[in-house]
Amino acid sequence: MPKYLFREGVDVNVKGNEIVITTPYATRSNPYRQKLHLKEAGAPLKELIKDLLSDGVDSDQYSTLQDKKHSASTHLSPESQLKTLYKKGLLSYEIEGCNGTAICLLPNEPGLKQQPCPEHNEKIKLSEFGNIKPCREGLDITTPLSPATLRLQDHRLYQLIQMLASPCTIESIRGFLPEDLCVHNREFISLLLMSEVIGVCNNNRNADIDAEAIESGWSREDLAFHCHTRRNIVIFRRDNSHLKENNQNNPPAKHQRIIIDRVPLSRLSNKNYNSNFYQIIRKRQTIRAYNAKPVSAEALGTLLWYSMHTREEILCDPGLPRSYEGLLRPVASAGALHSIEFYLCIKQCMGISPGFYHYDSFDHSLGKLSDLTVPCENMLALAVNTTCRAPQAASVSPGQAQPPDVLIVMASRYARNASIHSETGLAYALILKDAGSIYQQLYLVATALGLAPCGLSFGSSELFEQASGMPRNVECSVGEFMIGNPK
Ligand SMILES: Cc1cc2nc3c(=O)[nH]c(=O)nc-3n(C[C@H](O)[C@H](O)[C@H](O)COP(=O)(O)O)c2cc1C
Repeated sequence: MPKYLFREGVDVNVKGNEIVITTPYATRSNPYRQKLHLKEAGAPLKELIKDLLSDGVDSDQYSTLQDKKHSASTHLSPESQLKTLYKKGLLSYEIEGCNGTAICLLPNEPGLKQQPCPEHNEKIKLSEFGNIKPCREGLDITTPLSPATLRLQDHRLYQLIQMLASPCTIESIRGFLPEDLCVHNREFISLLLMSEVIGVCNNNRNADIDAEAIESGWSREDLAFHCHTRRNIVIFRRDNSHLKENNQNNPPAKHQRIIIDRVPLSRLSNKNYNSNFYQIIRKRQTIRAYNAKPVSAEALGTLLWYSMHTREEILCDPGLPRSYEGLLRPVASAGALHSIEFYLCIKQCMGISPGFYHYDSFDHSLGKLSDLTVPCENMLALAVNTTCRAPQAASVSPGQAQPPDVLIVMASRYARNASIHSETGLAYALILKDAGSIYQQLYLVATALGLAPCGLSFGSSELFEQASGMPRNVECSVGEFMIGNPK
């Protein structure tokens, strides 16, 4: 029998005629669990709450929830309260078969809609953005946009996923269902649609739930990343064992590398270059054509100093168990984590021999890691091949791009962000935002120095791994920037 139950994480407190329901939901701005107060609760409502906490409530007991559009229920009636609790994402909905719970709808946020079983001639289909994850109970299916997880527990249903990859008629779903589940076929199909993981096909053979995202051109990966990092509602986790008691495992701000040579860097004196901030902003532009005269070690040192040198080592969130090491640099960084490091492929630079270097932001020097090896040459070649995408100018034609004097590769120590953001899920999003602020800083400082700056879109973590010898899940490249002397 299909039934409703309180979802995991809901707490109920009954005091006289008042029922306080503490939801598992909070928001990013308000970390406290949201509450629902039901006042003047009568015996039928209390009975309903008791059932939802124990064995569940049969769906046909309150029939207005499923197919009927109109009901005579008042807003305080158990029927209407059940509807409200469902909409607020507090109820799971499951259908049992001969093997126990066969399929289950588990809300992830408020905002669930009722969906009647469609008529015979309609077709339904799995979302293109669907994601299938095995769990202890079976298979969990979600999409970045769906407010609920669809859980298949009865393994006889697994093949349904394969079927629903293409548009399926309601009749074919009915035909597929084993006898013990087919008796609930209308509720079963409703449940599929209520999850918003499966939708009714439109004229383009797309599920209606996907139509807007497809029209806007969202890729699966971008939509998943976007929804994951921009959601406002967060679920309170009762089991806080994942939270670290202290900061002992947080990666330190400073990470030593094995170098074969150290090149100290200097800075230009202030009077040598244009320092009017507003003029520099006006002047800033991408320059992709280089002079044969290489950049000087002095100019490169100044660029690095005003972009990336470490001004100060600090302790963030002092006094709290979660305190961690932070840094202050000329650029901003979320949480002062500064997980981005600079690696330089130096092709030519007056005063510094060609090679692959790490910028030591603490003592403002370059640590030579190797000569310009094949992977470094390949990174330079990739930079050349992805230059000339200037949409507004014919400055560099395809195939005529020049290699830069210096290719700066930004690599992130992901673990530093992950150690602080394991719960928020924002680690990678914030790394990319940090990279964005570094791009702009490099543009402005390079402009002030009269250098030719160009940010790049394409880069290869694989080539960086080969060049640096650093496993890509330890330090991964997230951005590239070219520097030369302008033509
Ligand atoms: C994140 C980012 C990625 C970029 N990727 C490339 C690229 O791959 N190739 C290229 O030639 N220019 C690239 N550019 C430079 C842009 O094409 C340039 O900023 C844009 O055409 C506007 O020109 P402007 O910088 O002179 O104002 C990039 C710039 C940024 C900020």
